Amino acid sequence: MAKNTNSNKPIITDLKSGTYYWCSCGQSQKQPFCDGSHLGTAFKPVKKIISTDSKVAWCGCKITNDPPFCDGSHKSIQPNSDDDASYQDWNSMEF
Ligand code: FES
Repeated sequence: MAKNTNSNKPIITDLKSGTYYWCSCGQSQKQPFCDGSHLGTAFKPVKKIISTDSKVAWCGCKITNDPPFCDGSHKSIQPNSDDDASYQDWNSMEF
């Protein structure tokens, strides 16, 4: 199963401290978190413990070199459609 790279931007969340499982396969319907859709594939969720309430930039494109966080790698992805108005805004952000 190939990773779903339809998302070309980070997913920003305000989180309470706790344990989270980031979707690495791209198939979850609860992005950026795992919903079990990877079962039967070679992908596994990435466990991350958030120790304090914080804003987190999760990787949505699934090609980050620092999973589960956005490292700016999404900038190498071309927009999927002309109507992706937010692409340019996200693509210019620094991480
Ligand atoms: S969203 Fe994947 S590296 Fe930024």
